[in-house]
Amino acid sequence: MDEECDYQVKIVVIGESQVGKSSLLLRFTEDTFDPNQPATIGVDFQAKDITFREKMVRITIWDTAGQERYRTLTSSYYRGATGIILVYDVTKRLTFENLDRWLKEAREHIGETDSVTMLVGNKADLPDRQISLEEGKDFARKRGMLFIEASAKETTGVEQAFMETIEKIFDQPTLAERCRIYRPAKSSTQVGSESSSTSSSSSPQVVDPSAQKNDTNDGGQGGLCGC
Ligand code: GTP
Ligand code: MG
Repeated sequence: MDEECDYQVKIVVIGESQVGKSSLLLRFTEDTFDPNQPATIGVDFQAKDITFREKMVRITIWDTAGQERYRTLTSSYYRGATGIILVYDVTKRLTFENLDRWLKEAREHIGETDSVTMLVGNKADLPDRQISLEEGKDFARKRGMLFIEASAKETTGVEQAFMETIEKIFDQPTLAERCRIYRPAKSSTQVGSESSSTSSSSSPQVVDPSAQKNDTNDGGQGGLCGC
């Protein structure tokens, strides 16, 4: 299967323990949800092959443990990543307050312009939220991140979180180039501008800071994730 792929995109999923990182991954790769999802130990790995802009793309997703005791183990898994999905739980303020710590760690391993970062407010299905949609959006905008709320349980926003990250990676030629798999026998190809058939357009909308020209970008990634 590997030899059929034109591109390989590595995405690392980070954030506090119990925010639903593994659940988002499980929903995206297998379209299932486990209410008793066990805590990740160290790091897990999943792959999904998609057709995107008429090219075969293998998405490799590294699901890291949120628990502090596994952090030194997981930090090495940032290597080669072009996408970061940073997750908080909309019902747990502490997971939101610690986002800058996670972002700092990611930035220590991947330069600001070398990746696309998507902030995901998960568990949007729960009624007892502590972080409003506006607060999440604002946080992401100020740091130049993409943003979406999601529910791994109810499926909403999950496909978009991953696919918008992929799209933004391929919108930046230098990042797309890093993902390309070179094979001597094949002629070189560029990812074109046709839209992906895999992206869904149901209710949650990804917020893209690069489309908001008037906003201050006081932290971040130089426009959208360096573009
Ligand atoms: P670590 O592996 O410890 O870092 O945790 P994690 O971030 O991977 O969280 P995990 O996916 O294991 O989910 C934690 C708990 O939240 C599990 O009981 C999940 O079933 C539950 N959960 C995850 N996503 C959602 C969601 O969207 N809605 C609701 N209601 N529960 C969720
Ligand atoms: Mg996990």
